[in-house]
Amino acid sequence: SKKWVLTVTAQTPTNIAVIKYWGKRDENLILPINDSISVTLDPEHLCTTTSVAVSPSFDQDRMWLNGKEFSLAGGRYQRCLKEIRSRACDYVDEKKGIKITKKEWENLHVHIASYNNFPTAAGLASSAAGFACLVFALAKLMNVKDDLGTLSSIARQGSGSACRSLYGGFAKWIMGKNDNGSDSIAVQLADEKHWDDLVIVIAVVSSRQKETSSTTGMRDSVETSMLIQHRAKIVSVNYFGRNFLGGFWIISCVEKWNRSEESPQVAYTFDAGPNAVMIARNRKAAALLLQRLLFFFPPHSDADLSSYVIGDKSILQ
Ligand code: PMV
Repeated sequence: SKKWVLTVTAQTPTNIAVIKYWGKRDENLILPINDSISVTLDPEHLCTTTSVAVSPSFDQDRMWLNGKEFSLAGGRYQRCLKEIRSRACDYVDEKKGIKITKKEWENLHVHIASYNNFPTAAGLASSAAGFACLVFALAKLMNVKDDLGTLSSIARQGSGSACRSLYGGFAKWIMGKNDNGSDSIAVQLADEKHWDDLVIVIAVVSSRQKETSSTTGMRDSVETSMLIQHRAKIVSVNYFGRNFLGGFWIISCVEKWNRSEESPQVAYTFDAGPNAVMIARNRKAAALLLQRLLFFFPPHSDADLSSYVIGDKSILQ
């Protein structure tokens, strides 16, 4: 019968690198030129929720991102799907009368619906949460038995930073030595209890989508576009100008405060965009940080810092 549908839903938070991955030694397999370390946010905030479904009545693989259909033609999606399919195991649900053999998985199509509860592709590591969630959900659906290390190496082929989002707490992406990427995996360094009063505050200076992906886009356009120099000039005024101003204010505010204390209270970091990520050593420091931010950037001020806290709003009280 073509009537059955099997579904799995997973939720994966994004991660913020404290030691960044930047630069690839192999673009196809996404192999980095350095190890990186990140903190995974707690699952309530900045996370992706992905449902994957399989049914004999589906005639092709399809995906919807935030409710809009999205092409799966890209190599990164294809690679993740292929890797998971090749590891699928027999599935039996006697109650529902469903039996899928390892071989049959190869010919069954999937439908994927994914939602981000935060701006997509705005330099807030949406692809990290997205690919980690996709790979994890597909692996559960297809009864894949491999461990998280192996799943991390598959998520890595979707988006490098995604491999670290399969773990809570602190994760390290080991660059590995092999050409085939088999040892380029993420491991958990410490779980979420290790530093449980650490607070991460993200100032969403801009939720606009990045104009290029953090990877090939930039380099490709530098190499192939005759307009790239011109573009560089105009984007710096139209897009980045004000937002980086917001970022610089945040940097100087944090630095000034840290200098006035015996030990630094807050660290700051940026990924591929203008949004400032601040890491407070504890809740007290986080509350003081927010007071300062709200003083310097009242909501809807010119700096357009429309939102500050993604997370535990009780620290505002
Ligand atoms: O995983 P990608 O290709 O989106 O690159 C992410 C790069 C940074 O977020 C800037 C750094 C990192 O280690 O996450």
